[in-house]
Amino acid sequence: MSVLEVRNVWKSYGKLIANEDVSMDVKEGEIVALLGPNGAGKTTLVKQVYGEITPDRGEIRVLGKKPGDRHVKKLLGVIPQECEPYGDLSVWDNIYYMGKLKGVEKDSIKAKGEELLRELGLTGKRDTLARELSGGLKRKTLIAMALINDPKLLILDEPTTGLDAEGRREVWKILLDMKKQGRSMLLTTHYLDEAERLADRIFFLNKRVIDQGTPAQMKEKFADWYEVIDYTNGKVYKVKGEEELKKVVLGLRGKFEVRMPSLEEVYLEVIKSE
Ligand SMILES: Nc1ncnc2c1ncn2[C@@H]1O[C@H](COP(=O)(O)OP(=O)(O)O)[C@@H](O)[C@H]1O
Ligand SMILES: [Mg+2]
Repeated sequence: MSVLEVRNVWKSYGKLIANEDVSMDVKEGEIVALLGPNGAGKTTLVKQVYGEITPDRGEIRVLGKKPGDRHVKKLLGVIPQECEPYGDLSVWDNIYYMGKLKGVEKDSIKAKGEELLRELGLTGKRDTLARELSGGLKRKTLIAMALINDPKLLILDEPTTGLDAEGRREVWKILLDMKKQGRSMLLTTHYLDEAERLADRIFFLNKRVIDQGTPAQMKEKFADWYEVIDYTNGKVYKVKGEEELKKVVLGLRGKFEVRMPSLEEVYLEVIKSE
């Protein structure tokens, strides 16, 4: 079953087209990443999914309903880009009031809130004011806030931008744990390693969807070249196709290495060829 269906969505800001005929979907239990450079229209697309802006054309269905639907809002957890918890409230109060805003019962907020504090390693920070938290702990607080209503679909716009390496890894671990619990996620990122690590499927977005598939499929599809490193002289050759590869390798005398490009390199090629 699809948790999210985006069909032929167009969105412009004046003359600037941000989303051009975008179609994508998220199935139950999947993590889907929208991967693209800055200005690719990722935030524009997710804002339409959580109902903050409306498409000019096209259709979006979240759990079979329109994004603006009151019922749908209760089934979503959203972490907008560059969002912070409210600095003058404690970690617990941020979580508590978000639960209230989403119309969650008081007893449920308390039980779920405690569980989230434990799962996210925030128990010791319960009474700390959010403004005193590190970037990583602020992000964890936002994740707890987004999860307080036990959402069917979690939407994360650049969940690790601005975090240090350790913070990023911690957020990844939390998201992968959430996935194990069967939660569906739509995330945006301009980090390839993040998409590769977290996503079941990737949509390359640059205003329009350039391609989509599993990280492995994307690599196979676009990576039709090899890198041959000749250790006798330190030269690196970029070789297209297997026939060519054989020729190059047969011509080498000393030690050498053949490498497949990383998804990072594949991505740069795809974006460049646009
Ligand atoms: N409110 C707005 N008014 C005008 N232009 C906007 C607005 N929001 C975004 N844009 C433009 O739309 C394009 C896509 O932006 P955005 O969706 O934020 O991309 P991304 O999240 O991939 O970086 C960019 O060129 C951006 O400058
Ligand atoms: Mg953005």
